[in-house]
Amino acid sequence: MSKKFGYWKLKSVPYVEPLPLLGNYGRYILQQEYPGHVIQKLCQKFIDQPYFGAFYGTEPVLVVQSPDIIKHVLTKDFYYVNGRESSDYSESEVVTQTLFFSAGDRWKIVRQNLTPLFSSAKMKNMFHLIDKCSAVFEDLLDHEVSMSDVIEIRHISARYTMDCICSAAFGVESNTMSTVENNPFNFMATEIFEASNYRGFKIIFRAVWPAIFYRLGFQVFPSTIDEFFSKLLKGVFQSRGYKPSPRNDFVDLVLNLKNEDYITGDSISNAKTGAENKVQLKVDDDLLVAQCVQFFAAGFETSASTMGFTLFELAKNQDVQKKAAEEIDEFLRRHGNKLKYDCVHELPYLDACMHETLRKYPVLGNLTREVMDDYVLPTGLRLDKGVRIHVPVYHMHHNPDYFPEPDKYKPERFLDENKDDIKQYTFFPFGSGPRLCIGMRFAKMQVMSGLITFLKKYRFELADGMPETLILDSRTFLSQPRDHGIMLKLTKREGWEGRNFVREQKKV
Ligand code: HEM
Repeated sequence: MSKKFGYWKLKSVPYVEPLPLLGNYGRYILQQEYPGHVIQKLCQKFIDQPYFGAFYGTEPVLVVQSPDIIKHVLTKDFYYVNGRESSDYSESEVVTQTLFFSAGDRWKIVRQNLTPLFSSAKMKNMFHLIDKCSAVFEDLLDHEVSMSDVIEIRHISARYTMDCICSAAFGVESNTMSTVENNPFNFMATEIFEASNYRGFKIIFRAVWPAIFYRLGFQVFPSTIDEFFSKLLKGVFQSRGYKPSPRNDFVDLVLNLKNEDYITGDSISNAKTGAENKVQLKVDDDLLVAQCVQFFAAGFETSASTMGFTLFELAKNQDVQKKAAEEIDEFLRRHGNKLKYDCVHELPYLDACMHETLRKYPVLGNLTREVMDDYVLPTGLRLDKGVRIHVPVYHMHHNPDYFPEPDKYKPERFLDENKDDIKQYTFFPFGSGPRLCIGMRFAKMQVMSGLITFLKKYRFELADGMPETLILDSRTFLSQPRDHGIMLKLTKREGWEGRNFVREQKKV
């Protein structure tokens, strides 16, 4: 520990004096404070420095806050910093064999093979599925409001986004929006995102000390998760007779991969050497099931949080809500009350609301990277393989130099006429560079559709007793409101009857 704690001194990098074992992330490691806030406070100590050293537990981490250097780390020098965290341990459990946790050639091959699934054309082709889920969401909202005009909005949004991702990725109707209790997908969602101190402890322990974590026999995720998704995939394969269908969806891609012994991609080292080497990865069931869990997990929770936070802010900012609703009414008038794929680019104000939400509440308040090959920063600082780099997203998004009055909800910042004022590499809700969120287009599509469904019919305000400021959960690395959720009071808007969706029943 003392050798590691000498790391930044030796490199002549300014650093914060660490506490034994906890380093400078004590309040995060002990789950006393949301990680975005912990890192923000560290950054504020070095406000004029492009970067500074800290210790994530006992591990040296370089926290980078200069947009120019962030650009190098995330994009230009990607080869050197392509890992996310504890990269050598991504194969230690099934659920961590995902794109999100992998690095190096393994990451590159999987990324190359999954990317075609998320093209704009693919998104447009699958929009009818989102349309169908939105119609069910409309009914669900009606049902809930008929029981009580106060509803908890995050959970209900998650039931909608879960249905979207299950239908689009796996071709199954999840029925997460039906009133039947004990839905297995809802159960899996809780298994994956269990917000408990024990789960929080395991996530942090693995991130900081993976070798000890696995040597002690721990696993972050229970094996019920991979067993469930393994059965789900098998069932869908069987229903398709083990042949790709015309849907051309995620299951088809997985089926195609299953028929190969190996998948091929470019070696990540080509970026360093300029060579054009190809590399192969053995395909086995664990690899495929892992990607499946990943799309389910990343596909619903992130978007549901974004919807929830947006509705929370719109409830507090009635003028913004009114403007967004008017834009939606106009869109639906133009399209004869049909929810069209065009919603992703024909509603600039609603889109700006989503971006302003992601600025205030970035799903990942901190982007983590791991140095995978000895790396020299443009400033001449030499970092050894294995050193962590943190990009403090939450801090950057709340820095008044980049976003004046950062606590105010001002969607106008993201309108076309103002977008150029946003400095490059100060706003990265979906990350940046080659590891940019692969599901970004899908996310936008389902969030926009969900918000349209909500706003076209309801006016809303914070429910009695709902605080104006959310306390973010300290037990998870995602930005989530703690315990109380988001309670809103809903009232039907005037003229809602004229905005009911025209439903085109397409076969799923
Ligand atoms: C509003 C919704 C979403 C937000 C804010 C979000 C945000 C992010 C962020 C910040 C990252 C890390 C990027 C980086 O390290 O530079 C990420 C990665 C990822 N996201 Fe998303 N995401 C969302 C929705 C989705 C959806 C819907 C899917 C899949 C259907 C998805 C799949 C992934 C995957 C697989 C990765 C790992 C990419 C890699 O490491 O190569 N995300 N996302």
